[in-house]
Amino acid sequence: MKLAKKALFAGLILVIAAGMAFAGGGGDSKGGVTKGMDRKIVMGYSQIGAESEWRTACTNSVKAAAEEWNIDLRFSDAQQQQQNQLQAIRTFIQQKVDIIAFTPVVETGWEAILKECLDAGIPTICVDRSIEGSDRVAANPNDKNDPDNWFTAFIGSDMEQEGNRAAKWVIANAAKIKPGKSVYNIAELQGTVGSSAQMGRFKGFRDTLGINPTSALGTSKDGKFKIILSQTGDFTRAQGKQVMEAFMKSNGNDIDVLLAHNDDMAIGAIQAIQEAGKVPGKDIVIIGIDAVKGAFEAMVAGTMNASIECNPLLGPQVMETAVKILNKQPVEKWVVSTESDYDQTNAAAAYPTRQY
Ligand code: AHR
Repeated sequence: MKLAKKALFAGLILVIAAGMAFAGGGGDSKGGVTKGMDRKIVMGYSQIGAESEWRTACTNSVKAAAEEWNIDLRFSDAQQQQQNQLQAIRTFIQQKVDIIAFTPVVETGWEAILKECLDAGIPTICVDRSIEGSDRVAANPNDKNDPDNWFTAFIGSDMEQEGNRAAKWVIANAAKIKPGKSVYNIAELQGTVGSSAQMGRFKGFRDTLGINPTSALGTSKDGKFKIILSQTGDFTRAQGKQVMEAFMKSNGNDIDVLLAHNDDMAIGAIQAIQEAGKVPGKDIVIIGIDAVKGAFEAMVAGTMNASIECNPLLGPQVMETAVKILNKQPVEKWVVSTESDYDQTNAAAAYPTRQY
């Protein structure tokens, strides 16, 4: 009899645990109300994955801010698959969460699911990466077919401007590090193809250098800069290294400058350059984007030259915006991050203050 009771109890625990897992976040036993609300709100969050140091910092920021605001966060990791994001958002709709935040892995393919959110009356926030309409306010707020209505707010960086800033740094500094060259040959490691981060940085970099922004390779109008190699490394350290190994084999003696769309790929590439017998930071000038601690360490060590900051600490703004939306207060359509540029002249001084 005692045994049967124990079995029944264990069974009950299992059923409760399974229910909590289905709820997506292991349940939320903490009571109270959300900061700024008269009740506790539930947020579904679809994150891309954990491809970079930056992404980990972003995830930690979101989770910590949800704790601070006392928001019940249902967090889902899509492992780089848009399909998984669509599935997670659909589950959040079924769970009738109060609000959904998501980082779109690529820019397109969101129309159907965001219309489902609109139909369910669940507002959505785009975080870090954008989709079409991120910087526009809809003319008619009730027109479901207007992409400007597909989400309520976007919180993240101006990726195109990051590309502009990287190019400005190259124009101002390449000749100081490698003097006496009439043309600077550039290799590029692109981010995940089709993501707003890859597309914005790709275009911004070319626009500022004066290179045709619609083609991967090309020469600047003034003839001083030439992109000779450009391939995706999917924002990961391992692929950054792998693609750079191939670049070094085919054109190792020709490359003067490397632009990596994120620091993780730059750090992977540094290894490949060293293994090929070249000196990163001297033989090849290296610029990354993100300004993660790993890049600061490389800049201080002299193996990396510059990093353009992209701020991943978006959690507090996401929670604040969610509370405003649910309180029917006005919000900016695009809350743009403010960021700085770092290189070997200011990296050591800034390093101790870096949070990610
Ligand atoms: O979308 C932001 C980019 O995605 C970051 O630059 C990169 O590190 C990340 O994986």
